[in-house]
Amino acid sequence: MVTSENLLRDRLGWRRMFVVTVLVLLSVTSVISVNRDNFKTCDQSGFCKRHRAMQPGSSPYVVLMDTLKVMGTSVEVQLVNRKNNIRLLLQVSAVKDNSARVKINEMDPIKKRYEIPVGDALVGEPKLQDMKVLDRSDKSITLGFEDNKILISSEPFRIDFINKEEPIISINTQALLKFEHYRKKDSPQAEEQAPPGEEGENKEDEEKKEEENVEEEKKEEHKEEEEPSMWEETYKSFPDSKPHGPSSVGVDISFPGFEHVYGIPEHADSMALKTTKSTDPYRLFNLDVFEYELYNPMALYGSVPVMLAHNEKRTVGIFWHNAAETWIDISSNTADKNFFSKIADIVKGGSNEIPQTDTRWISESGVIDVFVMLGPSAHDVFYQYAQLTGTTNLPPLFAVSYHQCRWNYNDQDDVKNVDAMLDQYDIPYDVIWLDIEHTDGKKYFTWDNDKFSKPEEMINNVASKGRKMVTIVDPHLKRDDNYQEYREARDKGYMVKNKDGNDYDGWCWPGSSSWPDFSNPEVRKWWASKFHYEDYQGSTPDLFTWNDMNEPSVFNGPEITFHKDVLHHEGIENRDLHNMYGFYVQQATAEGQLLRSDNKERPFVLTRAFFAGSQRFGAVWTGDNMAEWGHLKIANPMLLSLNLAGITLSGADVGGFFKNPDTELLTRWYQAAAFQPYFRAHAHIDTKRREPYLQPEENMKIIRNAIRARYSYLPFWYTLFYDGETKGVPPMRPLWVEYPTDKDTFSMDDEFLIGSSLLVKPITEAGQTGTQVYFPGEGQVWYDVETFRPYPGKQTTYVEAPLSKIPVFQRGGSIVPRKLRIRRSSSLMVHDPFTLIVCLDRKGAAKGSLYIDDYHTFNYRQGEYLLRDFSFDQNEFRSQSGDQFGKFTTKEWLEKIVVVGLRTEPTKAVLKVKGEESSLQWEYNSQYGQLIIRKPGVNIASDFSIKLT
Ligand code: GLC
Repeated sequence: MVTSENLLRDRLGWRRMFVVTVLVLLSVTSVISVNRDNFKTCDQSGFCKRHRAMQPGSSPYVVLMDTLKVMGTSVEVQLVNRKNNIRLLLQVSAVKDNSARVKINEMDPIKKRYEIPVGDALVGEPKLQDMKVLDRSDKSITLGFEDNKILISSEPFRIDFINKEEPIISINTQALLKFEHYRKKDSPQAEEQAPPGEEGENKEDEEKKEEENVEEEKKEEHKEEEEPSMWEETYKSFPDSKPHGPSSVGVDISFPGFEHVYGIPEHADSMALKTTKSTDPYRLFNLDVFEYELYNPMALYGSVPVMLAHNEKRTVGIFWHNAAETWIDISSNTADKNFFSKIADIVKGGSNEIPQTDTRWISESGVIDVFVMLGPSAHDVFYQYAQLTGTTNLPPLFAVSYHQCRWNYNDQDDVKNVDAMLDQYDIPYDVIWLDIEHTDGKKYFTWDNDKFSKPEEMINNVASKGRKMVTIVDPHLKRDDNYQEYREARDKGYMVKNKDGNDYDGWCWPGSSSWPDFSNPEVRKWWASKFHYEDYQGSTPDLFTWNDMNEPSVFNGPEITFHKDVLHHEGIENRDLHNMYGFYVQQATAEGQLLRSDNKERPFVLTRAFFAGSQRFGAVWTGDNMAEWGHLKIANPMLLSLNLAGITLSGADVGGFFKNPDTELLTRWYQAAAFQPYFRAHAHIDTKRREPYLQPEENMKIIRNAIRARYSYLPFWYTLFYDGETKGVPPMRPLWVEYPTDKDTFSMDDEFLIGSSLLVKPITEAGQTGTQVYFPGEGQVWYDVETFRPYPGKQTTYVEAPLSKIPVFQRGGSIVPRKLRIRRSSSLMVHDPFTLIVCLDRKGAAKGSLYIDDYHTFNYRQGEYLLRDFSFDQNEFRSQSGDQFGKFTTKEWLEKIVVVGLRTEPTKAVLKVKGEESSLQWEYNSQYGQLIIRKPGVNIASDFSIKLT
């Protein structure tokens, strides 16, 4: 009999066996690798192989210009496949705020092709704007909107987006468009209809020739059609019945003038994407990849089909709105050059070739639906994408504080003890987490009654210090008649079905399980209701949620996930919406938390699987990483890619999930993560306990300082997340986002910016006691946040970084709000005073802002917030309201202003509030021009100035 314990042991045993095998292999290869055998290559995936086999120039599509309809905001025109006469409908629309949409669907499909419902990935129907027809002939049409042109050419079919006479994005320039129309299995492939020809004297001859060609092509097509993978495919021992046959779509998208493309998370790879000439394409297919390998294009837990391209002149982006398995090839005329052609270029006196990145997007089903975001700045692209899929909602303050997790905190005494020990060692934390072992037999929404007999008391104890708890709630439901959630979902017909229409039955943590169909809005409603306090016994308003295994992970499924032919509501196959399943799980959970608080409290849900738009429902982490330096290092690019693609509240397991980190690695990991958006320590059940207070004293202190540094910067993070909600801009940014013309930064992913004010270079190698830091910005100055030592911009300097040091620098010209009285949790600090760090630029000026509200409810959306604008110029500091809408009363006040880079000590500091003047005390240190103005004492909400003379 398969029990959950057996299963778990099996999985763990297998993991152990795997580790041993790897260790043996290691001595030979020195590389740890995933079990690649569990996951398909492009070659093993019929549709990917079919598309990749197609050579540039071979697409059979032409535009039938006489079918063109111009409709204000859009144009519609038919495309025909010259080989089989199948017609497609092309729609091109101009979207508000400098974007466009290109959609290609079958004209008359025998089965409606799947489209992600509006309101899911897309927040709503995109707002369109008018286009003008600038030029029209029987070969092409040129449309204009804002300062862009869209040129649609008929034969060969291509679409070019042109800005100020420069092409910036082109679709189907390589003629790789392939659209596998739905068909009946045994019916002739092509319709018996003459291909559209042009009227003329030689019409008959032409028609005859054309017919002959079509016959030839039909034969070719037929050859292609004969591929066995089209109607049935078996991967390992897993058959895919493919009841609807081939249905893939693909097209090429080029970025002329761009050498660098980014995004399409989630991959364990560099931030600047690589060409895929000699590898598989980057794959987007949500999977539970055990012990994932670094620097390769294999799929991971989540998928955001968003790519950004950047050069010195502009940033653009595309969003491939398709939830099916997707592969993306990347090639580049510069990066793909071999050694000899590079030498030849040098001999010729350098290559004058304009760089170009070509990409090819291949999805197993659905339609082609591409949003083209035309920038021109990175901030514009973030905003444009935010208009489509929404932004990260302002998280409650605890969500951006420190989280203490492990698989597992064993019982309520364990929780009490960890909580007390962190207090004893003065280590702040906000949330303690419970993994799967807290449940009764992995039945989510239940508690193990022996180990957690008094959950409410446990949560209340933690909450008495302003802290929260999180329990894991996975989407697989144990098939156990005594399990209420399972019984209800089964009886209501809510489960995902296998191809024969029975409830899908697969293995996960509890053993035999079924999965509610979260793609069905009714099921999401039902699930959401389960978070009501009376339903989820033992839960309280201080308990939040972790959704894991929601790719979904199915231990005995193909590639450890659902069979592609499992059925969702309305008969939709998982094939069509696979990458959205985890999105819907998190959405339903977040809705549950909203419901239980009557929409008053902000939810917090962490998810492992995600899609475009998941940012609206909470946080994401990068899954099961390893306690290895390489994994610490790759967290930077992985999180940068997520941030570029809108998933901004994201982090990696601190310390590494698998294996035991040594103290140095753990220490460096805390230091890095203290400056990444989402900050949670987590560890596998088989690892040694590693809470910060268990570390040798020196490391414990360093880790504590890192966590305390995080708490001191919470006002800054919180303000950035507010900017994120309103403008879509990510808090964690590659340098090029703020220094767009600095080519040296374009592929830099070992350092990053937080907002535009902090520069962070985490130490990610063993034994390092210093690092080369690139300081961006000609004429700029950066200050070490601990010593205030200045570093000039646009150069690289070696910076000492002994174990106690986190290389973090504040930009001259910025004002960063902090709170320096660190307490046990963020909520105990909400009334505490602020310190403003004013780092001056070379002209002696600086600017910054601060956002505050009640830190946990939605009242800010009714105007209960404060936005303050700070400036320092000509020896005067000013605090003013940042907008006229926010009104909020707070006890928070201003304790200190630290001005850095002030060349001369003032003789007077005069505070002016509401016309009243008073003198302030200060201290001045001439080394780096540091002035500490003590106790302005004003409420942070007031307008005031401080004049230095
Ligand atoms: C998965 C998660 C991991 C969790 C474990 C047990 O491996 O990625 O974070 O601890 O399941 O729930």
